Amino acid sequence: MANAISNDTCPQAYRASLLHFRNDPAFHPNAYAWHEDGLLIIQDGKVLAVGDYAQLKNSLPEGTVVQDFRGKIILPGFIDTHVHYPQTDIIASPAAGLLPWLETYTFPTERQFSDTCHASEVADFFLDELLRCGTTTAMVYCTVHPESVEAFFNASEARNLRMVAGKVLMDRNCPEFLRDTAEGGARDSETLIKKWHKRGRQLYAITPRFAPTSSDAQMQLTSELARAYPDTYLQTHVAENTDEVAWVKSLYPKARSYLDIYDHYGMLRPRAMFGHCIWLDDVDRNRMAETQSAVAICPTSNLFLGSGLFNFERADAQQVALSLASDVGGGTSFSMLQTMNEAYKVARLGGTFLPALRMFYLATLGGARSMQLEGTIGNFVVGTEADFIVLDPQATPLLARRTERTDSLEELLFALALLGDDRTVAATYAAGQQVHLRK
Ligand code: GUN
Ligand code: ZN
Repeated sequence: MANAISNDTCPQAYRASLLHFRNDPAFHPNAYAWHEDGLLIIQDGKVLAVGDYAQLKNSLPEGTVVQDFRGKIILPGFIDTHVHYPQTDIIASPAAGLLPWLETYTFPTERQFSDTCHASEVADFFLDELLRCGTTTAMVYCTVHPESVEAFFNASEARNLRMVAGKVLMDRNCPEFLRDTAEGGARDSETLIKKWHKRGRQLYAITPRFAPTSSDAQMQLTSELARAYPDTYLQTHVAENTDEVAWVKSLYPKARSYLDIYDHYGMLRPRAMFGHCIWLDDVDRNRMAETQSAVAICPTSNLFLGSGLFNFERADAQQVALSLASDVGGGTSFSMLQTMNEAYKVARLGGTFLPALRMFYLATLGGARSMQLEGTIGNFVVGTEADFIVLDPQATPLLARRTERTDSLEELLFALALLGDDRTVAATYAAGQQVHLRK
């Protein structure tokens, strides 16, 4: 028999307003495409065509059903470049700053992830919550337990999501029940890389938690692993909180800066994602740009834990790759719209202004670029994977009232960013399949 024709081979078409980015609007004119009455055509989970409805409608094969989302906005799925799935259950837990919060809430909750059943249950909830919020790709911290990674990737694979995740490495300065060893951590990571990296849509991130919880031996083996598998990701925390920075200084007195520790071990490279980056200096920012390392900006977390304000102006002066992240459970929302809301205020407090167009770029193509995934996800260039969301400007009475009175695309997006949340996401699609529909 010839190849079976699956339903997938018939194109699917979606009519709505369409927005996606080709470039960073902070540095490029004409960085985005906006089709007020647009059509997105998908085939086999990939973008087949995108443009004005009037132009594209005649190219549709006869019989193609057009899903009518007029009045709503379709854009690429959001990308959250730093989030901890095992911290789902401790979101919104009060503590006087990062280090007490880690001790009181984070480490005890992460302990439970040696249990595969628990890990699977949380992973399912976490992924459903991401999809409800319109996030289709995330860079995810698991725990020190390999079981937590297995549970996560199994849940992600079952939904056919493009996710990046990895086992946390920490062999010192943490409770004994969460401690690995330099050799054991590297061995487990390598086994997981071999099993999961590039299996379907899954990608692996080597994940040293942060410099204080890894010994010199662990940092050495971790960087060797990152060199042995150069197309894997690497994720860690840096320069989040002043107490943490002082602690790091006492542990690594010879390092020029906190970032310099990672640099010393050769961990600055494309696909390296550094969470927070608040207390960096210009030498650090220059090294990040030179090495194509990326920043995960975590505004809800940084405000919640009182960590500090990310400096957009200095980062942009060096054109460091930027992306937005929730950092749940330090972050207080899974919603990238809520994350934009707080990012906007962080920028204002720093004396800068963050346009809504830039924020939507950062949460889509900016994330993809930071992860070296442009051409795979993050916009609607033909051939990219069809991860997209449908936003409803009328999702709540207040949003409806405000968005009826907007005079420009910038004002409309700004209202969505400042007033929007999970309720604004009418539907989410991953590789062309609907994975969330708001009831
Ligand atoms: N630094 C080290 N571990 C963590 C964590 O789990 N959350 C945050 N926000 N910062 C960290
Ligand atoms: Zn974090």
